[in-house]
Amino acid sequence: MSTAGAFLRSLQNELGGSIPFHRFMQAALYDPSFGYYSTRIHTVGRRGDFSTMATLDRSLALGIAAWIEKNRACDVIEIGAGSGQLACDILASLGWWKRLRLRYHIVEVSAPLREAQKKLLRGRRVTWHESLPAALDQLGGHAHIFSNELVDAFPCRVFERTDTDWQELHVRIEGGRCQEILRPCTIPESTVFQQPFQAGQRVEVHESYHCWLEDSAPKWKSGAMLTIDYGDTMPALYHRRPAGSLRGYAAHQVLTGADLYQAPGRCDLTADVNFSDLESWGEQQGWRCLSHSTLADFLAPNLPARFQTAAEAFRVLEQSPHPGIA
Ligand SMILES: C[S@@+](CC[C@H](N)C(=O)[O-])C[C@H]1O[C@@H](n2cnc3c(N)ncnc32)[C@H](O)[C@@H]1O
Repeated sequence: MSTAGAFLRSLQNELGGSIPFHRFMQAALYDPSFGYYSTRIHTVGRRGDFSTMATLDRSLALGIAAWIEKNRACDVIEIGAGSGQLACDILASLGWWKRLRLRYHIVEVSAPLREAQKKLLRGRRVTWHESLPAALDQLGGHAHIFSNELVDAFPCRVFERTDTDWQELHVRIEGGRCQEILRPCTIPESTVFQQPFQAGQRVEVHESYHCWLEDSAPKWKSGAMLTIDYGDTMPALYHRRPAGSLRGYAAHQVLTGADLYQAPGRCDLTADVNFSDLESWGEQQGWRCLSHSTLADFLAPNLPARFQTAAEAFRVLEQSPHPGIA
């Protein structure tokens, strides 16, 4: 039996016969011995399993560099820097004087990606940190923070509407195969449950990101934060998407249904981000929403026409830790 198979079977026994989907996703992506981001991924982009906006076009780097300049940011933290390409392009886009004053920080959980970033950014003034709270501690809480396609990489809980209530998606391993089953549940805090849905609708909630935000928020004192990801606000997020948005990527192929469970640790798993949740979870921390737009609007007029449709499926949320000042 594979390391992943043995681990998941023992987790299933420990949890009483099935694994909530987010626990499966946590293991498949981040388990130290077989998780996709811990052991398998070596880069992001054409030579990896999936591309991101950052690896396809420099317009994202130009937009973020302009944001850094506009905010006169001195300490910038990028969370989840992938191949390091975005950092490389942002630093190259900034003027010489700005580069001289800027201190660029990266928070990265994936050891293989941290190595790739260090190789690509050799000779640049970049500092790596284990976690956002650790980075903020070192900076006294003063920083401009951004991420691209980070939130979608956090494990999500998956729920299905039945005729009477919401049930949670679990994975059960039987005879060497993973099966999806629904189990009764308590629902987490999310704007998704404020909508009336028809029976059969599936939705995802990035509860682990909410917990991560609650851990990091008290350390953040000033600056602004840009969160860029694919997704939408409610109710548009699930318009004509009864099966939800859960999917996987391997070798640039999209995986859905049973294919998600074929090889835990050997493909990326992801779901669209509910930006209504991000706004609401930020407000709970006392944060102010400074702006919220599509990526197409954020990058206009520098976005090449061939990326217009793709960039309309992404959103950019800008928040500040103070209700009154940025
Ligand atoms: C989908 S990739 C996006 C990479 C890059 N931002 C880009 O646009 O190409 C997600 C990135 O977030 C990192 N990541 C996931 N969870 C993280 C966490 N809790 N803290 C820091 N980085 C994280 C992954 O290792 C990876 O670098």
